[in-house]
Amino acid sequence: MPSKATNSEPITAAAPQRNIIGPSWPAAPQDLALRDGEIHVWCAAPAAFFPELDRFRSLISQPELARAARFHFPVHRDHYIIRHGILRLILGRYLRQEPSRIEFGQGKFGKPTVKTDSSLHFNDSHSGDLALFAFTKLGPIGVDIECVRPIPDFENIAARYFCAREIALMRELSPDDKMTAFFSCWTGKEAYLKATGEGIGQGLDKVEIKLDENLRATALHIPGDVHTHWTIGAFTPAPRYLGAVALVGEIPAVSQWQFCASSL
Ligand SMILES: CC(C)(COP(=O)(O)OP(=O)(O)OC[C@H]1O[C@@H](n2cnc3c(N)ncnc32)[C@H](O)[C@@H]1OP(=O)(O)O)[C@@H](O)C(=O)NCCC(=O)NCCS
Repeated sequence: MPSKATNSEPITAAAPQRNIIGPSWPAAPQDLALRDGEIHVWCAAPAAFFPELDRFRSLISQPELARAARFHFPVHRDHYIIRHGILRLILGRYLRQEPSRIEFGQGKFGKPTVKTDSSLHFNDSHSGDLALFAFTKLGPIGVDIECVRPIPDFENIAARYFCAREIALMRELSPDDKMTAFFSCWTGKEAYLKATGEGIGQGLDKVEIKLDENLRATALHIPGDVHTHWTIGAFTPAPRYLGAVALVGEIPAVSQWQFCASSL
């Protein structure tokens, strides 16, 4: 969501008292490999690693350190350092490479890529206290996570960025379900625009998200494009959080992992 840019989201300044990530996100085995045809999604609570901050700082590059230093609030800076360290640690496993030596490239609109291995696609997202990381060799992937929270002007946001059918569906729902549908549509759209690398500056309203009976995003429709079949995978990594990945083609079973102390 755009509010992230203002650093105004709730974020825990101290290590959380309890792990909010659900039991369907187990710790990954140490020798986990990413096989062709698989999608792995990892969830992490960066604040759990605040005591290990120096270790994460030692993993990230000078440009990443410089970007971290530009955050206004120390808690956002430390989250950024840990998120980027986690990304490097997971990529290091899959690439069998020293995490601090991984070099990143950039797509046209700033989507990060692994410079030395164009077959490994990844994307990451964060909201509130959680971060989500998606990896696959199937093709460009996008991921988004949002903390489901009341958005006072959500109807204006929907009017601006949602399609007529999405708005009509939301009108029929109870207030709680409206917010769920809003965030399901938003995460699906953002995951798609992060898969293509265009980012949310382009065409949120050009993409129609299909929701199932539980208001989970399952697919998307791009008016005018009958050839490309996009699928959305939706997740609930913790209470009040919704996540989505987007990929061209059918999404196979997604492996869900939690980045926790044993992942270090
Ligand atoms: C990329 C974008 C969707 C992120 O939205 P957000 O809700 O603030 O953030 P999320 O937590 O979901 O994702 C952030 C991560 O997405 C990745 N990312 C950055 N640019 C991306 C892009 N164009 N496409 C896909 N992923 C991108 C990065 O890993 C980033 O993590 P970082 O900020 O720690 O480096 C949003 O900033 C955007 O649309 N940017 C527009 C891109 C653009 O026009 N760039 C102009 C420069 S050429």
